[in-house]
Amino acid sequence: MKKTIVAPSILSANFATMGEAVRQLTVDGADWIHVDVMDGVFVPNISFGQKMVKDIRPLTSLPLDVHLMIINPERYIKEFAERGADYITIHIEATEKVAEALSLIKKCGKKAGLSIKPATPVEALAPYIEDLDLILVMSVEPGFGGQKFNPVAIEKIRQCKKLVGNRDIVIEVDGGITEDNVVDVRAAGVDAVVAGNTVFSAPDKAATIKRLQG
Ligand code: DX5
Ligand code: ZN
Repeated sequence: MKKTIVAPSILSANFATMGEAVRQLTVDGADWIHVDVMDGVFVPNISFGQKMVKDIRPLTSLPLDVHLMIINPERYIKEFAERGADYITIHIEATEKVAEALSLIKKCGKKAGLSIKPATPVEALAPYIEDLDLILVMSVEPGFGGQKFNPVAIEKIRQCKKLVGNRDIVIEVDGGITEDNVVDVRAAGVDAVVAGNTVFSAPDKAATIKRLQG
């Protein structure tokens, strides 16, 4: 079976030593670095913004997988692109200009992702499918790390797999991923998993990342 892409979320890092955390994840064999941007409006929490992308960019050669949990993300896409994001994922629930936002991401030369919260059906993605490089299925209500995995995501991953067909689109899942449930999301057809708490609380991050990769 194909290896699963593992994208540790730096939301779970100690922000005071972020550079060291990013360097260490790179050494420890992470595939991507997942960067959770929260505005306190689209989600109830505030994390960090585009400057974090700029500051960590020189510290790793891994793709930066930027997850924008912000309202009207089209306002900031160019800045995240210029500061070194590789994947830019917006929420379908965060803007009425989804198509424009996706095309702006592509215009900036970046990979375009679209995310759905647990209550948003997979069919909502269908009108945009030809414009996507990545689908991000949320398995928790976005806003905080360390929450419990909602199994509704498993069926949604299966539905995404059908929707994607043979298109070149990464299916990623985010929230509450553990060494136990990674088996289920992999069986459902996921390509990439975000892992915050599971990686950052592990005594041996490299070994944990390896097991999550499968
Ligand atoms: C939730 C974020 C996630 C989260 C993952 O809003 O998008 O990326 O930090 O953390 P864990 O793996 O701890 O659920
Ligand atoms: Zn995320």
